[in-house]
Formats: sequence, C-alpha cells, structure tokens
Amino acid sequence: MADSDGVPDLPEELLEALSQQAAEILLSARHVIALTGAGISAESGIPTFRGKEGLWTKHGEPPLNQYQNFMTSPETWWDRVIERRRNPDELSAAVREAVPNDGHFAMAELERLGVLKHIITQNIDNLHRIAGSAQITEIHGNSQWLRCLGCGTRAPFEEIPEQRPPRCDDCGGLVKTDTVMFGEPIPRDALQTCIQESDLADCILLVGTTAVVSPAADFAWEIHSRGHPLIEVNLDPTVITDRCQVAIHGKAGEIMSRIVDKVKRGSTG
Ligand code: OAD
Repeated sequence: MADSDGVPDLPEELLEALSQQAAEILLSARHVIALTGAGISAESGIPTFRGKEGLWTKHGEPPLNQYQNFMTSPETWWDRVIERRRNPDELSAAVREAVPNDGHFAMAELERLGVLKHIITQNIDNLHRIAGSAQITEIHGNSQWLRCLGCGTRAPFEEIPEQRPPRCDDCGGLVKTDTVMFGEPIPRDALQTCIQESDLADCILLVGTTAVVSPAADFAWEIHSRGHPLIEVNLDPTVITDRCQVAIHGKAGEIMSRIVDKVKRGSTG
C-alpha cells in the first residue's frame, strides 16, 4: 500500500508498535533533545535539499564559497537579497507561504508535556516557533532575522535596509541575513547552546534530516557514542538509521502525532 504521494505505508501494527517503543524511550529519558531537518517542513510545502524531489537533486548544489563571495562583495550580495525579496526563488517563495504542519505541532506538544527539552533545527523557516516551540536553536539561522557579524546582535528583517551593505547600530559591523551560508562559521551563541544541550542529552529524536551535515549531525553521533538511544522519524533510511534504537519510516506529521498520542497516554499512566 502507498498513500497519495506514493510513500509506502508501514503496516498498521508495525507502526503502532514502533510508535509505542519510541514513546517509551522518550518517557524514560531525562533530557531528550531533537534534531530536525528539511523533511519536517516538507508537508508545509517547503522543498527539501537532497532526495528525489530535493532542490539540489534537481538544480545542483550551491557554490561552497558563498560566504567568501559575500565577504568579498557584500554590496553585490545584498543587491541579490533585495532582488530575491521582490522576485522570490522557489525556496524563498515556499518559506514565505508556509505554515506549520502536524509534525511541528507535535514537537511543540512534546515540549509542553515536559518530554522534549530542546530542538536543534537546521531549518531557517521559523515554523517551529510559529507552532509554539520555545526551546529552539536554529543552527543554520532564521531567514526572518538579520545578524551582525561583529557582535552577533540580531534584529528582525522587516524593511529593506537603506544602507548597502547595512552596518550594525551597536558596533558598526557588517550585517547579513541570519541564514548561515556555505563556508560561514556557525554563530558562536547557537553552537554553544547546541553543545550544552547535546552534553545534557540522554536521547535524541531525529526528524526529517539526512544527518549528513556537520556540526548538526555530529551531536547525534556523539550522543550515540555515549550509549544513549537515538530515535529516527524520516521518509527514508539515512546514514544513521542502523544506530537508532527505533527508526520509523514515513511522514513526520503522521508519525510524530502518533508518538505524541502514546507519550500522553504513557505520561498519564
Ligand atoms: P535534506 O534535504 O538533506 O534531507 C531531508 C530528509 O527529510 C530526507 O532524508 C528525506 O527523506 C526526509 N523527508 C522528506 N519528506 C519528509 C517527510 N514528509 N517526513 C519525514 N521526512 C521527510 O535536509 P537536511 O538534513 O535538513 O544547510 O539538510 C541539512 C542541511 O543541508 C540544511 O540545513 C542545509 C544543507 O546544507 C545549509 O544550507 C546551511
């Protein structure tokens, strides 16, 4: 059996058993964190990067020296950003239109239940926050914010800046969008929080990520190396699947909702 998108359905009993197992692991851990990726936002209409329908599979990977290009000519880069605001490309248009889906809401519910302590998301789409999650680190930034490369101060990206490239009011540093480019270091504050959360974690839930990009994926390997359980919810198997205590292959929205239902039943006895 396959659903309308051609995704093979797991047999109901198997799905139930795996979701139950995942819920039990989540309930028995003390400090669960999650690593989410493009797959959790796919059901909100935002294309993934890799995989059959991925943007990069269709159009090729972007240049690896994006950050270097920005530093060489920030004015040119800003001209392009402004042009893209007026004529959004496929990804920007999808992010602009997107609203959270059941997967994002399930993650927010897990936090409200006290089970999920922190989300490290690789997504820049802001959908976890809109869905109600509060404890989040956007390791690749957030497209709705600007960030000063000098002092790290962030400000909402509302107006098109008059000065190009814009400069920080506080320190005069160069300002770019918060979204992390290829070749750009992860912002220090975000990295620091990820390290702290990962050190505390005794379970990690991986949702909709191929888990191939460093340093985000490294946290999962590190938690695994300390002997703690990994749970994967993803359409397809990934490089980390065989290290997971439970791996459930299907759509994040449906599977995360099931897991949360079981957590609720388990947490109320
Ligand atoms: P990828 O595009 O690499 O992977 C998305 C994963 O989600 C794949 O394994 C898909 O099978 C899975 N998937 C697709 N639809 C799904 C659904 N409805 N439910 C569950 N899973 C689904 O995205 P990421 O792992 O997030 O960084 O990529 C990590 C980073 O690679 C990105 O943040 C980006 C890129 O380098 C930067 O640009 C800095």
